[in-house]
Amino acid sequence: MHKIFDSKQELATYFGEYLLNKTKEKPDLNIALSGGSTPKVIFEVLARDFEKSIDWTKIRFFWGDERCVLPTNPESNFGMTREHLFDHVKTRAINIFRVKGELDPQEAVKAYSATINDNVPHVNHIPQFDIMLLGMGDDGHTASIFPHQIKLWDSNNICELAQHPETGQVRVSLTGKVINNSKEIIFLVTGANKAEKVDEIFNKKNNYQQYPAALVNMNKATWLLDKEAAESL
Ligand code: 6PG
Repeated sequence: MHKIFDSKQELATYFGEYLLNKTKEKPDLNIALSGGSTPKVIFEVLARDFEKSIDWTKIRFFWGDERCVLPTNPESNFGMTREHLFDHVKTRAINIFRVKGELDPQEAVKAYSATINDNVPHVNHIPQFDIMLLGMGDDGHTASIFPHQIKLWDSNNICELAQHPETGQVRVSLTGKVINNSKEIIFLVTGANKAEKVDEIFNKKNNYQQYPAALVNMNKATWLLDKEAAESL
């Protein structure tokens, strides 16, 4: 399913209402956040318009992927979330389960896998997040599973170490089995540079299954798109 919005702000407001309703249905939501630039706008709208209406202390925050950097590094997804959301709403520190990007990457992936195993309920013997937030890169990657490492999607592990194809940046990423085991998956995709891949994935064009984003269970996924990203649909 997909919904198209005239602006990122409208998309963010829709997501805020969705999250508010989810927190009313289930007070201790386990959510895996996406990173990159799109969530910044979403988090700013959530902080501005949903600070009081959502009980942020009840949400348990995880990440779908994280760069192996210090939490204070501008590249950090946790750092971005803290700047644009956590610094503006009342959360509970014990409900924030960040990837320890400051550790040696092998240690970070082991520690985060243990954190998820210990704190996220299992269904089908796999951790099940209530909400999985995903973005999509203009190369069709999602979380930090990139096309050149698409085999990581099918890993039997909860998390894998991945590498950005251009920068070589090492990242910790959830794998396909955890992503597709989520109760609900929400794609937040904005910008004209995503339109081609959105079209290819939605219309099963060309070699669309080379894109990790195309391997996400479409029956569970709701794509929230701005009109630029949806211009070819
Ligand atoms: C990350 C993300 C990544 C992101 C896409 C889209 O750590 O970068 O998790 O998967 O969602 O790259 O990023 P934008 O929304 O910034 O285009």
